[in-house]
Amino acid sequence: MKTIQLVPKPGGPSLVEREARQPIPGPGEVLIRVRAAGVTPTELEWYPTSHTKEGNAREGAVPGHEFSGVVEAVGPGVGLLESGREVYGMNDWFAEGATAECCIAPFEAVAPKPPNLTHVEAASVPIGALTAWQGLFDRANLQPGERVLVQGGAGAVGIFAVQLAKYRGAHVVATASDRNLEFVAGLGADEVIDYSKAPFEEQVRDMDVVFDGVGGETLQRSWSVLKPNGRMVTIAASEEGTSDARVKEAFFIVVPNQKQLYLIAEMLRSGALRTVVDTIVPLAKAPEAYLSALPRRGRGKVVVLVEEGSSTQELPEAGASKKRQAAGQGRN
Ligand SMILES: NC(=O)c1ccc[n+]([C@@H]2O[C@H](COP(=O)([O-])OP(=O)(O)OC[C@H]3O[C@@H](n4cnc5c(N)ncnc54)[C@H](OP(=O)(O)O)[C@@H]3O)[C@@H](O)[C@H]2O)c1
Repeated sequence: MKTIQLVPKPGGPSLVEREARQPIPGPGEVLIRVRAAGVTPTELEWYPTSHTKEGNAREGAVPGHEFSGVVEAVGPGVGLLESGREVYGMNDWFAEGATAECCIAPFEAVAPKPPNLTHVEAASVPIGALTAWQGLFDRANLQPGERVLVQGGAGAVGIFAVQLAKYRGAHVVATASDRNLEFVAGLGADEVIDYSKAPFEEQVRDMDVVFDGVGGETLQRSWSVLKPNGRMVTIAASEEGTSDARVKEAFFIVVPNQKQLYLIAEMLRSGALRTVVDTIVPLAKAPEAYLSALPRRGRGKVVVLVEEGSSTQELPEAGASKKRQAAGQGRN
């Protein structure tokens, strides 16, 4: 089967297309024929991409740990899923990802695909929606009526953080660049701050919760807008190896959660939540989608369409999306 793998090269690691043997699902695992896989460009820098669970160097990692596809086979002990079922979900971070014709996922990391979404749309959901859900609800315990600041409201995670915080009944303030202000307001944010015009801390204060998807200096400046005893959550890749104790406490990495995937699918089905696909690329162009996309300035997710023969969009120029695609367009 075709895969995209991360290989070492002089001048830095590179992504290449390689043939690999189709994996066999072990106990509790599902083999998925991938129709589409989400792109999180910073995955290439994350610890599990370059290390095994035991801490050894890893080579040939397949990126893209979220997918939508069809169950091809199940391993021993998976009785509830028959082949042919359409599912979406996540791969284990230390296992190969979904930028491939097939991938393996733990049964607990998949759920039925939201029926009203295409595979491309469904593949754009798991990491963004689960990260926002776990950050806002499981970690920050966001309550109705509380004030939350979402840093990076236009990003692949930010679009879900804004919507889920609003759904919970919070007062939602989000940051975005000027060209994304209306877009983020359209997701339900009560206030949208143009972070490029003036420091956000001059425009917002007394927040109960900050959900930070940007990191670095933005995170450092965000502490000042929290109420005493306010809660900070950061997901930014830049903070993964921090030695700052309070940032360590605020940082977390999303984990697959089947129950939450079911709830999210139901919200997508009912229209309480929507996803946004920025750009669609074919498998052969997945390397460019990862390597040309830092830093990203897009709206929502870039998705790799793995199935051949369907329409795709041009890649955006490095750091700037030319073509955007709202959910519902360009169905595969
Ligand atoms: N810990 C985890 O489990 C986890 C899971 C998923 C992602 N992540 C990490 O979380 C971060 C966000 O991920 P993502 O996939 O949502 O990224 P993304 O889709 O690349 O979005 C980043 C967004 O940040 C906005 N942005 C850039 N600079 C900003 C600033 N100074 N203030 C406010 N917004 C700014 C950009 O919007 P504008 O165009 O409006 O500037 C862009 O749309 C990344 O570091 C990623 O690695 C972590």
